[in-house]
Amino acid sequence: MGTVTRGTTNPNRLRRMDRWIAAIHGSELRRADDPLAVDLGYGAAPWTAVELLQRLRTVAPRARVVGVEIDPARVAAAKPYERDGLEFRHGGFEIPLPARPSLIRAANVLRQYEEAEVAAVWARLCARLAPAGATSRGGLLVEGTCDEIGRRHVWVALGPEGPRTVTFATRLGSLGRPSDLAERLPKALIHRNVPGEPVHAFLRDFDRAWAAAAPYASYGARQRWIRAVRDLAADWPVTDGAPRWRQGEVTVRWEALAPATSTSAFT
Ligand SMILES: C[S@@+](CC[C@H](N)C(=O)[O-])C[C@H]1O[C@@H](n2cnc3c(N)ncnc32)[C@H](O)[C@@H]1O
Repeated sequence: MGTVTRGTTNPNRLRRMDRWIAAIHGSELRRADDPLAVDLGYGAAPWTAVELLQRLRTVAPRARVVGVEIDPARVAAAKPYERDGLEFRHGGFEIPLPARPSLIRAANVLRQYEEAEVAAVWARLCARLAPAGATSRGGLLVEGTCDEIGRRHVWVALGPEGPRTVTFATRLGSLGRPSDLAERLPKALIHRNVPGEPVHAFLRDFDRAWAAAAPYASYGARQRWIRAVRDLAADWPVTDGAPRWRQGEVTVRWEALAPATSTSAFT
């Protein structure tokens, strides 16, 4: 279910997202009976699926990855890379697997769809996640967008119940100001970066905090980012702390950035 789109990918492009998933979701994956992760829409080459497996196994040694692609030629091209814990299947948003995954990662997939389609795709994918239980929050869908070599990245994380958080992640050395990340907003938010919408107010406030933190630049861009995020957290529901900020990240509750007017089943 879905449409074949451009297959652009690059080795190591999704490293920021992979590391965040390993840090945030590693304990869920370790506890899962079957720690199954899906790399949905891995593109013209299987690099991102291979790397996802490597990074997940550092925190969950039993993790396995299935790359799911809607273009059969891309599945055939990936098949020679199958190995222990890594397979490739033809399919789309229906997720053609009997098991319910602990993780579905869809990077640079929805950007080529219409904004109006996002809510239904999210709902479909969330319904396929492993359910929450007594000791588990359930599976995680991570859906977002980055530039060609992964220096700027924004993603939404969703559980079986719907959207939870939005994460901004960047290589700090090349950042002019936080709103440079606007061009990498996921499809659900990229058309909402206009006055009156929460995500626009957030990036405006982030730029102001970044400007106010300019004196910290003499200690390096990392210290300036940490200072700016600390200020931002006074007014916005930032969910993480300094260990993640040091990586050039910040994560905010979805409800604070969700579109002001939306037809989404989730908002
Ligand atoms: C731009 S590539 C992204 C590759 C990789 N995820 C990355 O970020 O580098 C998008 C891929 O998603 C695939 N795709 C689009 N819709 C899909 C769907 N519904 N199910 C599975 N794959 C899909 C396209 O065929 C394309 O190969």
